[in-house]
Amino acid sequence: VLAPGATIGILGGGQLGRMLSLAAARLGFDCHIYTPEENSPAARVSARQTVAAYDDEAALKRFAQQVDVVTFEFENVPAAALRALTGSGKPVFPQAASLAVAQDRVDEKEFFARLAIPTAPFAPVNSRAELDAALDKFGAPAILKTRRLGYDGKGQARIMAREDAPAALKAIGAHPAILEGFAKFDTEISIVAARSRTGEFAAYQAVENRHEDGILRTTTAPASVAMGIAVQAQKYTQAIMEALSHVGVLTVEFFVMPDGKLWANEFAPRVHNSGHWTEDGAMTSQFEQHIRAVAGWPLGSTAIVSKVEMTNLIGADADRWQSYAADPEMRVHLYGKGDARPGRKMGHVNRLFPRK
Ligand SMILES: Nc1ncnc2c1ncn2[C@@H]1O[C@H](COP(=O)(O)OP(=O)(O)OP(=O)(O)O)[C@@H](O)[C@H]1O
Ligand SMILES: [Mg+2]
Repeated sequence: VLAPGATIGILGGGQLGRMLSLAAARLGFDCHIYTPEENSPAARVSARQTVAAYDDEAALKRFAQQVDVVTFEFENVPAAALRALTGSGKPVFPQAASLAVAQDRVDEKEFFARLAIPTAPFAPVNSRAELDAALDKFGAPAILKTRRLGYDGKGQARIMAREDAPAALKAIGAHPAILEGFAKFDTEISIVAARSRTGEFAAYQAVENRHEDGILRTTTAPASVAMGIAVQAQKYTQAIMEALSHVGVLTVEFFVMPDGKLWANEFAPRVHNSGHWTEDGAMTSQFEQHIRAVAGWPLGSTAIVSKVEMTNLIGADADRWQSYAADPEMRVHLYGKGDARPGRKMGHVNRLFPRK
């Protein structure tokens, strides 16, 4: 168990690392951020940083010597970096297995299948012939995705009709891919949950997610789905976390189908954008919960204290910070990113609906 005053090492310097670091500070920990990026959102609120590439073995080794536990906020940390850190003798949570499965969309879907968790139909695609064969099997519409390194809808192409196949292959480039049948879902929900070093499990309530242009736009907590659906989603999430012996927060995205069945879309072995509502709407934020789990502390309460609508501030949305700040029902969170490029997540606002 880490006592206050210990140092938590975080791989990745983005907004998730920033919010982890702020939560850790409140519990009396220091954070040391490891990122290739100068002046990163996370490092700017943390006690220490290392700016180095993820494959810089000497830098990784020095980093391990300076921290008491290692975790990550960035899902595409090379597995080799995590192995090198694990070999350093310092505890690494979550362990490499969680990361490895989540990094490859085919492995991830096969993993869901082994746990009897339904998904959209899928097939690995490495050539035009394999794409055609997959389209013969489950037809259009379908989505072609790169197996690795996608986020915010990047590395994906929709195939509305068979004629779109060559354009879709071209759009994602020469990468190993997966074809997924299109899920005609009613809604999308996600479960953010945590598992402690002693195997204790705690899930937040299911939340509802709305995407625009492949990017999460709003999360509503709690989701307005039937209780049975929300409970099933939590059960699937627990099965996933047990199978991985996962320690820390993990998030599973689901499609709710018209027949009430859940199809798992993907999981992230980390805190998640759809959990940002917990900063203001739950007893314990997802960030504090993750820090508690990796530090060997008991998990905090996941009870909801207010309904929340979380809205991402994307690109120029963040320019309206003054009007958000003037709204008494809103809590504003900004990531300290200078350059508001289109599509870039700059911050979020949580609108609270406290009981009167
Ligand atoms: N098979 C599918 N059927 C229908 N819609 C899909 C399918 N796959 C993805 N989508 C839509 O595209 C969104 C983004 O897809 P996905 O979660 O696979 O990508 P991502 O790039 O990992 O996104 P993020 O990192 O934002 O979670 C989904 O939340 C969903 O709205
Ligand atoms: Mg997703």
